[in-house]
Amino acid sequence: MKNIVILISGRGSNMEAVVRAAQLEGWPARIAAVISNRADAAGLAFAQAQGIPTAVVPSKQFASRAEFDAALRQEIDRFAPDLVVLAGFMRILTAPFVEHYAGRMLNIHPSLLPAFPGLETHRQAIEGGVAEHGATVHFVTAELDHGPVVAQARVPVLAGDTPDTLAARVLAEEHKLYPYAVRLFVEDRLSIEQGDVRISDSHFADTITS
Ligand code: GRF
Repeated sequence: MKNIVILISGRGSNMEAVVRAAQLEGWPARIAAVISNRADAAGLAFAQAQGIPTAVVPSKQFASRAEFDAALRQEIDRFAPDLVVLAGFMRILTAPFVEHYAGRMLNIHPSLLPAFPGLETHRQAIEGGVAEHGATVHFVTAELDHGPVVAQARVPVLAGDTPDTLAARVLAEEHKLYPYAVRLFVEDRLSIEQGDVRISDSHFADTITS
């Protein structure tokens, strides 16, 4: 049984998708905790309603990134995580924090990385005139929105799209992509070889139905 700790900052719809998939598909994993850097994160209510332990480490109350990251790490490690899942966690993390969770921390980013790292990816995609946009799940490394890619989902950019309509199309894919990627980790099917993710065949193919 693997322990998963999920970090959120707001709505938490990706966290919810992972929690629901873990329950419905009977993953060999438990969501050990949902932790937010904001007390007003809407997703905390969903987690509490599921009986998942929640915690808030308020980023505003720390004088430096290093102090916040140290406090956050202490809180996360109380739950002995095998995997840390960043799900709309809007913080830039320090190198020592990232290093502590090397190979066991995933992020979802709403673009087809390496295109459009950072914020406002949907607006960037529209203004850039690209035909396709999407989302990427990757292992977290010290460089923001970089790191070995686990999986991507693609959507078309349509004539007349606004950042909001495009974001909604991408988000629907995120809700399938992130549970898929987290499940691969839980099933021990991911390895990083020379900076690239390799996905091995399922050991569970005969026993898990979806
Ligand atoms: C998602 O688009 C995710 O890709 C990005 O922030 C958004 C979070 O949404 N990192 P939610 O909090 O999961 O609903």
